[in-house]
This record gives sequence, C-alpha cells and structure tokens, in this order.
Amino acid sequence: MTRSDRTSDTSHAPSSPLRFRSAVPTDGTALWRLVQAAGTLELNSAYCYLLFATDFGSTCLVAEQDGETVGAVIGYHPPQQPQTAFVWQVAVLPRLRGKGLGAQLLGQWRALPANRDCRWVTATVAEGNLASQALFRRFAATHQAACEATPHFTADLFPGEHPPEPLLRIGPLERALAPETDRVATAIA
Ligand SMILES: CC(C)(COP(=O)(O)OP(=O)(O)OC[C@H]1O[C@@H](n2cnc3c(N)ncnc32)[C@H](O)[C@@H]1OP(=O)(O)O)[C@@H](O)C(=O)NCCC(=O)NCCS
Repeated sequence: MTRSDRTSDTSHAPSSPLRFRSAVPTDGTALWRLVQAAGTLELNSAYCYLLFATDFGSTCLVAEQDGETVGAVIGYHPPQQPQTAFVWQVAVLPRLRGKGLGAQLLGQWRALPANRDCRWVTATVAEGNLASQALFRRFAATHQAACEATPHFTADLFPGEHPPEPLLRIGPLERALAPETDRVATAIA
C-alpha cells in the first residue's frame, strides 16, 4: 500500500466503537481470515492461528467493530526472554488503515495484563514493509524508547526466496500503567 492509499475509500467502514480484548480459542478462524484479508502477510495454517488463540491468547489482541475482527496483534513471550513480548503478526483490515488503528492496537496489546511488565518489544520486519517499519518506530517514539535493528532471520535461513527479516528491538519500556483492554475505544471510521 502506498501512502496515497491510506486515505482511500472508507464508505463501507462501520462507525461504531472499537473493542479491544485478549484472544480466546474461538478467535482462531477470525485471525486466519484477518491475515488472509491483510494481503501482504504470510498466511499460515488455520491450525496455527487456533494454536496461538488457544495457548497464547493472553499475549494476542483482537480488535472488534460491529462484531467483526478488524485488527489483531498475534504475539508471545520467547521462552528464553521472559521480559520480552514478541509480535509475530500485526494486521489491520485494508479499509481501516492509515487512521491510527495499527498504533492503537500495539498500545493496547502492550497494555494487556500478560504484556504490561515486559521491558522489550521485538518483531521481525522486512526492510521493504514500510508501513510496518513506520508502525514500530512510531511505537518506540511514543514510548520514548530506542528501536534497534539487527540481522536475525537472514535470507539463507528460509527454504525458498524470502527477504531477510531483521529484528527490531524496542526498549527499555516502563511498565504499562493500566490494562487498557476490554475497553471501548475511539471509533475509527
Ligand atoms: C502495518 C499495519 C498494521 C499498520 O496499520 P495502520 O492502521 O495503517 O497504521 P497507523 O495508521 O496506526 O500508522 C502507524 C504509523 O505507520 C505509518 N504508516 C502507516 N501506513 C504506512 C504506509 N503505507 N507507508 C508508510 N508509513 C505508513 C503512519 O504514518 C504512522 O506513523 P506516524 O505516526 O509516524 O505518521 C497495516 O498497514 C497492515 O495491516 N499491513 C498489512 C500487514 C503487515 O504488513 N503487518 C506487519 C508485519 S507483521
């Protein structure tokens, strides 16, 4: 998506409030559908999203509007780094992009009870994914934290052609002040 796309058609966007909450097992299919709709993300098996929603639901965030899953952050805590919350995939439905929902999602995800004590947020982001780069750098700036990029999943680690996925490491972060989930937030329309 280009920057000019970001102000594109919103005529079908519902205007009711957004609700943020952690994921539950029944979100697995909706997460799979959201990632499919996101277009640019690597779509994994439905089983994989079911697994995340079930076993890592407390570190995954779902945003709903009018009963529809419109955005999500799928993450976990790397077992060897308990103070780190890793973002595996973050997605906003195309029609709602460029309105601040991605930034809201990351903030709400970070404030989940399971994540709010984490001092670091990490994610791998391909250099060509400008929206994702901007999203994480905005998150770092909002939290007045450093955002360091280091080589991580280099191209040779993938079975086929795949761009390298450097690791972005954001922090150190202060403890998030209060859980912001299960809350109704500003409408994105
Ligand atoms: C990445 C994504 C979640 C961002 O969601 P969003 O709701 O559009 O993001 P926001 O409106 O909150 O914008 C957050 C920041 O990114 C910037 N940004 C958003 N889209 C951009 C684009 N296409 N190009 C450049 N910058 C962009 C915004 O300007 C903002 O930065 P700023 O505050 O410094 O101006 C969304 O584009 C998406 O779902 N993409 C497909 C899935 C994906 O690639 N996920 C990331 C890899 S896991």
